[in-house]
Amino acid sequence: MRSLLKVLTAIVVIVATSVTASAAAAGNPERGAVLADTCLGCHGIPGYRNAYPSYRVPKLGGQHQDYLVLALLGYKSAVRSHPTMQAQSASLSDADMRDLATYFASQGVARQGLGKTNGKIARGKEKTAVCAACHGEAGVSPTPNWPTLAGQHEDYPQQSIAQYQNGGRTR
Ligand code: HEC
Ligand code: HEC
Repeated sequence: MRSLLKVLTAIVVIVATSVTASAAAAGNPERGAVLADTCLGCHGIPGYRNAYPSYRVPKLGGQHQDYLVLALLGYKSAVRSHPTMQAQSASLSDADMRDLATYFASQGVARQGLGKTNGKIARGKEKTAVCAACHGEAGVSPTPNWPTLAGQHEDYPQQSIAQYQNGGRTR
């Protein structure tokens, strides 16, 4: 456990150092809104699901702009595997990604702590101690390169974590 924490801390330091260098410039949200038209067919429909395996399409509203750009770059370069998103990002330029990310980041605020309490939430919260350094105490990441998890559909992180475990997602 202690050595895992050391490794995680080392990663935090490395990534945090690179953040300042790569912080994305603000894009044009109006242009982003126009480009987002094709994205909203999936990301704008409440409860819209990926067909197989079945999980809800992630919410993008309120996510960090920098993380959204990194995710799109990941799909475009096929570092992140998802055929639909690879196709969606294939023709996007860096400016397109920046504008789209600026638009989506401005749509809504990540919801933290819904005020709900039950056994399942309490057990989950206990397990997040090890995640907080990167994803934030209440799931809102303090670092723009790292995803905010608060307010995300429950089954999307579940799907991502399963993929990290089985090697289907390497970043
Ligand atoms: C046909 C449905 C569909 C369309 C259209 C679509 N997406 Fe997606 N998007 C998905 C699915 C499903 C995922 C989850 C993929 C995965 O598991 O990696 C996703 C994931 C993402 C992610 C990663 C989110 C995260 O939290 O990691 C971003 C960013 C994203 N999409 C942006 C866009 C943008 C921008 C567009 C428009 C140019 C778009 N998507 C169009 C279905 C779609
Ligand atoms: C050392 C920092 C660090 C720690 C600790 C950490 N994460 Fe992450 N996590 C990341 C980064 C960076 C990414 C984004 C990877 C990428 O660019 O695709 C990520 C991605 C994720 C995603 C995918 C989000 C999305 O929108 O696609 C989930 C879910 C996640 N982490 C859950 C967790 C959980 C649960 C824990 C604790 C058990 C945890 N993480 C601990 C850094 C961390």
